[in-house]
Amino acid sequence: MKIGIVGCGAIGKVLAHAIEEKFYPRAHLSSLYDIDLIKAENLARELKRRPRIALTINKLIWHSHLVIECASVEAVKNIAPQVIKQNRDILVMSVGGLLNIPEVFELAQKNKRKIYIPSGAIGGIDVLRAASMAKINSVTLTTRKAPRSFADSPYIKEKGIDLSKIDGEVLLFEGSAEEALKWFPQNINVSATLTLAGIGAQHTLVRIVASPFSTRNIHEIELEGNFGKFTARVENFPMPENPKTSYLAALSAIAALENILGNVKIGT
Ligand SMILES: NC(=O)c1ccc[n+]([C@@H]2O[C@H](COP(=O)([O-])OP(=O)(O)OC[C@H]3O[C@@H](n4cnc5c(N)ncnc54)[C@H](O)[C@@H]3O)[C@@H](O)[C@H]2O)c1
Repeated sequence: MKIGIVGCGAIGKVLAHAIEEKFYPRAHLSSLYDIDLIKAENLARELKRRPRIALTINKLIWHSHLVIECASVEAVKNIAPQVIKQNRDILVMSVGGLLNIPEVFELAQKNKRKIYIPSGAIGGIDVLRAASMAKINSVTLTTRKAPRSFADSPYIKEKGIDLSKIDGEVLLFEGSAEEALKWFPQNINVSATLTLAGIGAQHTLVRIVASPFSTRNIHEIELEGNFGKFTARVENFPMPENPKTSYLAALSAIAALENILGNVKIGT
């Protein structure tokens, strides 16, 4: 399988190396694309089997059977429909971008193409998917991060919250995932994955906690439904290349590739 990667940052780099070291010859990295050409060139230089550098997204799609998007939420809005229209499959990391283009799911169905969404920086998606085959009463995501992680959030600016004054755990926000996506866009991918796998953005409850004691990004998921009750908690190490990204997110994409390429499909 020929794979093209869009976005040569923290996740793109881990995936490019994984494809070369773990999946060759079942898969090979055919091309790289980044709006910052130097990033694509630098990554290509690190690899033993050098992929081509695509100068346009169309060229990358042309040379790929599967496109991996690990660029940005904005990028997904343009790239995902193009990939599907050109009859390729796509694996999406910037899941929040899919919420703005629900029509892409119909397009994928019509064109018989696949949109793969790895579990990302959280756990329990397999349970949520299985539970959603019956009635789910509630899905709650509690995210706990150091106060400075929320510095760029529109919510903090709008409410005039002084994050430097927080000296104990504070519940900053509690509301629907739909509202959380608007106020805390940096939390968008985890909430988006949960809402797509479960009961939608209006019914998924999100709690955002600022904790000065937290050195990791902690996500807790609680579900209740006809199946029973489930809780999961992940304490994520950030990636050195991009501290906003958890290492587990990159690993989840490698695991998704393993599922796509392998004969045994676990957790899908
Ligand atoms: N699903 C999850 O749980 C999860 C977890 C962490 C990160 N993410 C998302 O995955 C994506 C990648 O994360 P990262 O840590 O590797 O980011 P990063 O900032 O380290 O790298 C992103 C790369 O994409 C490039 N890029 C940006 N816009 C582009 C565009 N329109 N076209 C081509 N290239 C573009 C940038 O130049 C950069 O090299 C981000 O959108 C991030 O929010 C998802």
